[in-house]
Amino acid sequence: MRRNPGAVLLLALLPAGCGRTNLSAANPAGPQAERIETLMWTMTALGTAVFVAVVAMLLYATWRGRRRVLPSVSTEDERQMTRWVVGAVGVSALILIGVLVANLGTGRAMASFAERDALTIKVVAKQWWWQVEYLDPRPYRRVLTANEIHIPVGRRIRLVLESHDVIHSFWAPNLLGKVDMIPGYRRVTYFEADREGMFEGRCAEFCGHQHARMQFRVFAQPEAEFEAWYEGQLRPAEHPRDPVVALGQQIFLQKGCVLCHQVRGTLAGSRFGPDLTHIASRTTLAAGTIPNTRGHLGGWIVDPQKIKPMSHMPPNAVTGDELQALLAYMESLR
Ligand code: CUA
Repeated sequence: MRRNPGAVLLLALLPAGCGRTNLSAANPAGPQAERIETLMWTMTALGTAVFVAVVAMLLYATWRGRRRVLPSVSTEDERQMTRWVVGAVGVSALILIGVLVANLGTGRAMASFAERDALTIKVVAKQWWWQVEYLDPRPYRRVLTANEIHIPVGRRIRLVLESHDVIHSFWAPNLLGKVDMIPGYRRVTYFEADREGMFEGRCAEFCGHQHARMQFRVFAQPEAEFEAWYEGQLRPAEHPRDPVVALGQQIFLQKGCVLCHQVRGTLAGSRFGPDLTHIASRTTLAAGTIPNTRGHLGGWIVDPQKIKPMSHMPPNAVTGDELQALLAYMESLR
């Protein structure tokens, strides 16, 4: 990867963890993020150069001023001062124009990433999670999931962004810049991953109580791996064969779960909360708040308000046996 020496120095000065993580604009994984990174380092280098020059001149002026006992300003001195001021204003204006051109160039390059046969993914931001829908032109090929976005490496992604309630902001710094999601407006942007990996994303606009726990993950996979995942997500939930799993399904359909969640292949069809048809295939729960393990899921079902206060998931009064059956059912939804 290309990197200039100044950038390496600055990167070394950054606290550990800010540099090469998968939640960092300084570690781009796609052409859009690379353009943003170049602009970022250009502006950082320019800003540093200007700062150093100004401080150096200030120190020089202070040192020079101390030597003089009485100021004696001649006409020639005044002329020279005027020349310095005009020169400094001119250089500042040139730098600002340069930054503007670099900014516009980056914006233009980002806008030119549009492509006809891009894979369209619609992300709807909600308090406080992300609904993810793959908008295949054939309705029976559409996939609905939550908080985790799988994409094939090297394929252009057309991202359609909407908000359900308040203003959120979609931000996966390794892949693209922040895009505000404003209720009533549909934003469309394009991006691409040019290497494999899992890239973290955050909501970058304060959107209420659990704004900090509104995270998502982007999994960039080779085409074949992505296709396998997609086919798996397309399938409805399997009919339970194990008696405990079957009991869990019954509880799911009789208790409050069914009012908010969808499990395709069953009578549960609400889209208020995340689609759970393949919940076991996801790595985290509650939008990146907790890992997707049996223990955490149990705690989440019983008392979600303790884990994520003010979220729309209510507590569920279930007995120990009911919870175990429910967990067995959730684990079967691969
Ligand atoms: Cu959604 Cu902050």
